[in-house]
Amino acid sequence: MRPLVPPHIETLKPYVPGKPIEETEREYGLTNVIKLASNENPLGPSPKAIEAMRDAMRKVHLYPDASSYPLVRRLAEHLEVKPEELVLGSGSNELIELLIRTFTTPEEEVLLCQGSFPAYRISTQAHGRPFAEVPMKEGHRYDLEAMARAINPRTRMVFIANPDNPTGTTFGRREWEAFLAQVPEHVLVVHDEAYFEFVDWPEYFSAVEYFRKHPNVVALRTFSKIHGLAGIRLGFGVMDARLAGYLQRTRMPFNLTIPAQQGGLAALDDTEHVRRTKELNLEGLRYYEVELPKLGAKLTESRGNFVLADFGRPAGELYELLLRKGIIVRPMAGNGYPTSLRISVGTAEENARCVAALKEVLG
Ligand SMILES: Cc1ncc(COP(=O)(O)O)c(C=O)c1O
Repeated sequence: MRPLVPPHIETLKPYVPGKPIEETEREYGLTNVIKLASNENPLGPSPKAIEAMRDAMRKVHLYPDASSYPLVRRLAEHLEVKPEELVLGSGSNELIELLIRTFTTPEEEVLLCQGSFPAYRISTQAHGRPFAEVPMKEGHRYDLEAMARAINPRTRMVFIANPDNPTGTTFGRREWEAFLAQVPEHVLVVHDEAYFEFVDWPEYFSAVEYFRKHPNVVALRTFSKIHGLAGIRLGFGVMDARLAGYLQRTRMPFNLTIPAQQGGLAALDDTEHVRRTKELNLEGLRYYEVELPKLGAKLTESRGNFVLADFGRPAGELYELLLRKGIIVRPMAGNGYPTSLRISVGTAEENARCVAALKEVLG
């Protein structure tokens, strides 16, 4: 009998998302469960976005504006780019899919960093594209020099998460420019900036500053993190207008819902929510950096809204014990970090609950 699917689908391991709160409460008979597992915004959605989305619900019998015209204009103004240099997606995840689908062939290779965000590999494999993975260097950092050396004549696209997920490690402008100088023009460099707004480091940069000089550079951003709109699915890419034009051909016309478009518009205006979220996150990062090493954990240098903590013992076990205490974190064994948990920054109270629970289960 013919196989139902080609080998690259047969061998595909699905993405494992963070465990939902409701499921955990049901399974463990708990209430008041907290989730620090998916790098979401502990302050919730921007209140302005909530209001706009409520209003948008009255119009959902209509198809959305296929061009997301007002949101594209507003975003372009916000980023100081042209509307035709923007492509919106159902989360930045959709942009990852579209980029692979549009710009690579099954003969071309995608270059990835081992142990980084798994969606790149899943999308690449789902499209039947070959890929190569370059290990990280010390401190769980992207090794851009090794990645530049790994580019071969078949390489067509490189995915880079900066800050990285799940390590949170970040590289600066100098490393990036040295890398770009070595990448041939026909190789697309996708710089995923999902945690851009959280970074408080003068060396950091955005690929938005680079795509004009280097038209092979693409910046990806999302409303899922700082704006607290993960559940509405809204992300975007900034790139050379010619590249954007091809993505506009391959994307589905109604990929953004009406609430997503309206919510996004309102969230962009809510600078106060962004400011509060960033401040809360920096405090939470500092708290984890002080408290978790006291429990014997080694942390990577994270500039995202989460930490990767190595407890030196099987992460799955620790994860289970925390679940029983109503704390959902993310065990990273499946991503190549067998003894590490990724813990998102929550509210001060949630962070303290997580540390207290860890103390108990480790004690
Ligand atoms: C590095 C990175 N890129 C992209 C995403 C996906 O974001 P979105 O919700 O916009 O699809 C995430 C989400 O966790 C991420 O960590």
